[in-house]
Amino acid sequence: MQIKKAILTGGGRATRLRPVTSTMNKHLIPLANKPMIFHVIEKAVEAGVEEIFINTNPGETELQKYIGDGGHWGVKITFFEQEGGPQGVAHVVKQAEKFIGNDPFLFFLSDNVILGSLKGFVDEFVNGNYDCMLALSKVEDPERFGVPVLDANGKLTDVIEKPKNPPNNFAVTGIYLYGPNVFFKAFDHIQKSDRGEYEISSIHSDLLKNNLKVGYKEITGWWKDTGKPEDLIVANQLLMEEITAENFKVEGQIEAGAQVGDKVRIGVGTTVNKNVKIIGPALIGENCTLEDCIIGPNATIGTGSTIKQAQIKNSIILSKCRIVGEIKLSDSIVGSGVTVAKSQSDYQKMILGENTLVEL
Ligand code: G1P
Repeated sequence: MQIKKAILTGGGRATRLRPVTSTMNKHLIPLANKPMIFHVIEKAVEAGVEEIFINTNPGETELQKYIGDGGHWGVKITFFEQEGGPQGVAHVVKQAEKFIGNDPFLFFLSDNVILGSLKGFVDEFVNGNYDCMLALSKVEDPERFGVPVLDANGKLTDVIEKPKNPPNNFAVTGIYLYGPNVFFKAFDHIQKSDRGEYEISSIHSDLLKNNLKVGYKEITGWWKDTGKPEDLIVANQLLMEEITAENFKVEGQIEAGAQVGDKVRIGVGTTVNKNVKIIGPALIGENCTLEDCIIGPNATIGTGSTIKQAQIKNSIILSKCRIVGEIKLSDSIVGSGVTVAKSQSDYQKMILGENTLVEL
């Protein structure tokens, strides 16, 4: 058996990532200067998936524009609208029933970021003849996640969604495998939870109640659910650390005198003047202008942004931003087209969107 099909999430509300997600789909937020969902697609393709189905909120157009038909990765990608909008992740899968039919499949929540490969996880599922396989990761705050219940022998007996008193420190990550004819039968048995969603944990609980073979594998490498802004900053940093040396290319025009450290990528069309210092890991997109500034470590700057006099570390700056003046930014996420400039008067001037955070 090979897992040739995968369902990825592309919808949802992403309220905890506002205001960045007020105008953009969270799955397009760049991590290591690449839309978050691209990392997930790459993991699925590497594990042998050939057909990918991505759900969208009604009216979505951006995601389709960015991702295209999958040709870029040598796979076929199909989008489907989630009727009635977000109603829980189990509902996403139910809506893809017509694409999956009786085939086994991978379900991957696209806001989950992992380092390393999924191959071991898929192999264990296939070789062990499982009906379902869950990827677990040790976390400090299991109450935010689905949590497995394990008996004294380490056998999985139940899965509870966001328990107030978690029985252990494991989270069920958003990476799941299902065998033929397993998921959709279980879906018919479950009800919406108190938060009004069809929970994926209810599916797993039902499978276990019906004695299906549900296994688990601990992800020993790094895993993150990027539900909160601070998670994005960490994910950005770790994904940069995964980039191999030959992929840190320095292009653009670099003036003599500029200090460009190791693990720095600079895109075509970017200009860097002599008073710039870049400390890796750092990724600077194409067509940026950098003058008299210090960038990095752990900073990514999107295409067409201008940075002058400022210092930026541990931050994600999207495209077409202007950060100008003696400003020091850390642990920040700056959305596309934002200007942050040093005030010329005693007063600061701001035009801020809903739920914006400013610390002066
Ligand atoms: C969802 C699942 C939860 C899982 C988590 C992983 O939670 O319901 O079981 O642990 O994804 O990212 P949500 O992000 O919808 O709160």
